[in-house]
Amino acid sequence: MNKIIECLINKKSTCIPIWFMRQAGRHLPEFRKIRFKNPDFIKLCLNSSLSTKITLQPIERYDLDAAIIFSDILMVPYALGQEVIFKKNKSPKLSEFNLKTFLNNDKITFSKKLYPIYKAIKESKKKLKKKQSLISFVGAPWTILIYMLSLKNNDNKLQLDRLKKNSFEINLILDKLNDYLSTHIENQINAGADVVQIFDSWAGLIPEKELYNYCYIPNLKIVDFCKSLKIPTICFPKGIGKRYKEFLEIVKPDGLSIDYDLDPYWARSNLENVCLQGGLDPKTLLKKEKIIYKEVDKYLTIFKETPYIFNLGHGLLPETNPDVLRKVIERVRKA
Ligand code: CP3
Repeated sequence: MNKIIECLINKKSTCIPIWFMRQAGRHLPEFRKIRFKNPDFIKLCLNSSLSTKITLQPIERYDLDAAIIFSDILMVPYALGQEVIFKKNKSPKLSEFNLKTFLNNDKITFSKKLYPIYKAIKESKKKLKKKQSLISFVGAPWTILIYMLSLKNNDNKLQLDRLKKNSFEINLILDKLNDYLSTHIENQINAGADVVQIFDSWAGLIPEKELYNYCYIPNLKIVDFCKSLKIPTICFPKGIGKRYKEFLEIVKPDGLSIDYDLDPYWARSNLENVCLQGGLDPKTLLKKEKIIYKEVDKYLTIFKETPYIFNLGHGLLPETNPDVLRKVIERVRKA
């Protein structure tokens, strides 16, 4: 039995599958070792044998129900012709966006550039047990756009004037992005991915009256596309607060990942007919054991009667101690 699929599709509430956003990454010493030898992050993501290895590292260490493919949401702007630079402890930087270059892209070249990711999915899938899912992902169009156009300042505030002044261009880019993201999803599914998670990490920056235009509709198009391919989706519209309810009513994904700012009691009573995921603040895992268990138990109790996937309210922090994570997993397993 594949627990994640049972939970997402059949809305089963008697098991609690578990995996972690950013489980394949910096909290693991075995990842840091590889990363140290591979200073170019994009190249590392495009090295199929290493990215397969990194995808499987958390699975080898812990008792998890899913692997998430080691890649990044910014591989899409990379494949669309922008240079992407990752500097330690800084927000990733992209070379200046050029509309003409962007519009001159084609799907065949795009898919070719990302081929090593699909190869890594195929290889990772072979190594997983039947009961374990392989999660693929994309960034939602808005979140990708934030990076492509450098639409936020260093203090994470949105440049609203640019958003308003260029709304025609922005809608055009979002629409085109949707096509490429669909291609990327389809390629990942064909390679063997079982689930698609859609990260809208910067949805919380969208002005309220623009949420339909920049968040709900683009997410809906992707979810509907995945439905047409019969593949389950988990959406993560981080930071939109009580608008989670409206998001759910419109987008209707199979799963909904809640962030650490959302009150879990509110989520349980207001977000119905969906499999909920996550919520626990990643910072909690840096605290004393007693506090960690209290918080973990809180989420387990609140979501006891509903289909729920244990995860966090955002990605694992690099400072997380792997031994602590192992104990959290054991505790969830015993629940
Ligand atoms: O384990 C996994 O979850 C799979 C791999 C994964 C990465 N990025 C690897 C990564 C996934 C699912 C992502 C998604 C991603 N990337 C998101 C959405 C989720 C979120 O965190 O909100 C976003 C916004 C990005 C963009 C991005 N990539 C940022 C902002 C950064 C730098 C800061 C950070 O959070 O690490 C990255 C780099 C990145 N992506 C690293 C890893 C392991 C660190 C690279 C390094 O070693 O320097």
